[in-house]
Amino acid sequence: PPFWVVIPAAGIGSRMRADRPKQYLQLAGRSILEHTLDCFLDHPQLKGLVLCLAADDPFWPALPGASDPRIQRVDGGGERADSVLNGLLHLRELGAQEGDWVLVHDAARPNLARTDLDLLLAELANDPVGGLLAVPARDTLKRAGADGRVQETVDRSVIWQAYTPQMFHFAALHRALADALVAGVAVTDEASALEWAGLSPRLIEGRADNLKITRPEDLEWLRQRWVLKT
Ligand code: CTP
Ligand code: MG
Repeated sequence: PPFWVVIPAAGIGSRMRADRPKQYLQLAGRSILEHTLDCFLDHPQLKGLVLCLAADDPFWPALPGASDPRIQRVDGGGERADSVLNGLLHLRELGAQEGDWVLVHDAARPNLARTDLDLLLAELANDPVGGLLAVPARDTLKRAGADGRVQETVDRSVIWQAYTPQMFHFAALHRALADALVAGVAVTDEASALEWAGLSPRLIEGRADNLKITRPEDLEWLRQRWVLKT
């Protein structure tokens, strides 16, 4: 189905401890953010893409892709959910309709495979709610106590890691995010806002290598992988 994309890229990457926000670190000769944008820009079903950036971001204008007319820049907000909400407001100006599909994808996930994107779109095309790419938990899971000791082993079979893209209808996502933020609910991904609104997003199993770059070793891992790919 046709879809809109919102890319939250207004974070500072504190856990990365680099000299700039992680989306501007280099991966195989280009910034992470450019790789991420590439996952969507040439998709035949793309209706438009909104990129949420820090208002004073000095790095984006220096990139070759900054003048690409397919990319609409908006200001991000204090938390990821605020950034996404700003992006959605701009989508409305671009003409997004209530029932249109919107995909939200972290700027810090440059390794989204086209096959996973198309799987998500195909699996959810007729879904009443929408859903997200996710990966089943692999390791044995422990619940920890405050003393740093194991309290118990958690049933792994029902635990998934939430990835992105997350795909929802424009109006439902906008309402859920806005209401959840007003209510002061912790919203770390789009699905959690819809869950809070009483809906059950579908989990679509994706590739584990669509990981979010959070810490330096994530980027090291991806750099090694890119060498093998190319
Ligand atoms: N993000 C955003 N606006 C914010 C915070 C985060 O658009 N106010 C974006 C980040 O740029 C990132 C994505 O949301 O692409 C996922 O967030 P995260 O991995 O937490 O990135 P950062 O917040 O930048 O990193 P950290 O939490 O380590 O500071
Ligand atoms: Mg963060």
